[in-house]
Amino acid sequence: MKLIDWFLDRFRLKSAHRGVFDRKIPEGINYFYCFGGIAFTAFLICSISGFFLSFYYIPSENEAYLSIQRIHEEVYLGKLMRGIHKWSANVLIITLIIHSIRVFVTKSYRPPRELNWIVGVILFIIVMVEGFTGYLLPWDQKAYWATVVGTNIVGSIPFIGETLLLIVRGGYEVTGVTLNRFYSLHILWFPLIIMLLLWAHFHMIKKLGISKPL
Ligand code: HEM
Repeated sequence: MKLIDWFLDRFRLKSAHRGVFDRKIPEGINYFYCFGGIAFTAFLICSISGFFLSFYYIPSENEAYLSIQRIHEEVYLGKLMRGIHKWSANVLIITLIIHSIRVFVTKSYRPPRELNWIVGVILFIIVMVEGFTGYLLPWDQKAYWATVVGTNIVGSIPFIGETLLLIVRGGYEVTGVTLNRFYSLHILWFPLIIMLLLWAHFHMIKKLGISKPL
């Protein structure tokens, strides 16, 4: 520790480091309070591996499936990166569920944290939809039919269903147009919205602190 302190001091990093990592936490918290942080780590790993995959993936009707095969068979560490992307996405969803249960059980949704609970619920929905848009990208039979079924659910909403279905699919069928829309949402718009919401989430945690255990 002395060596690390000396190093940080000589690099003049000590105060910056303190500002980021030193937080007051209440007494009596347990490991369940770590799941928000684990979810965030999974999100970071997912983003980095996704960044790598986007160098090789081609979002077109004719090329998508082939490009995935190429990532698996030809690209250096491609198979590993795809595995990391898939598994970190799964870990993100599972840890988010545990995090939400922890917040619910400890009643941390009560004022003054009710807005952070609402931000969390929106985050949860967007993370799920982010996973759904990613599921189509391999463009195989499983991906195609999962998207047909998922978007049919959107189409069954009373009054606005048909319009929504046309917007989501870009037509009446799931085609290359749908693939392009899902790709754009998956790699640009949803990650951007998630990052914005995460900033709001962490800002409120920083200002309000973590709730005391019941
Ligand atoms: C990608 C999504 C999310 C990330 C990365 C995240 C991260 C975090 C972190 C690091 C904390 C600090 C305490 C802890 O870890 O338990 C926290 C607190 C909190 N989170 Fe999340 N969270 C996410 C989604 C959610 C969801 C889905 C909900 C609720 C439905 C939620 C509601 C809250 C609330 C109310 C707090 C304050 C809890 C307290 O003060 O005890 N979060 N979040």
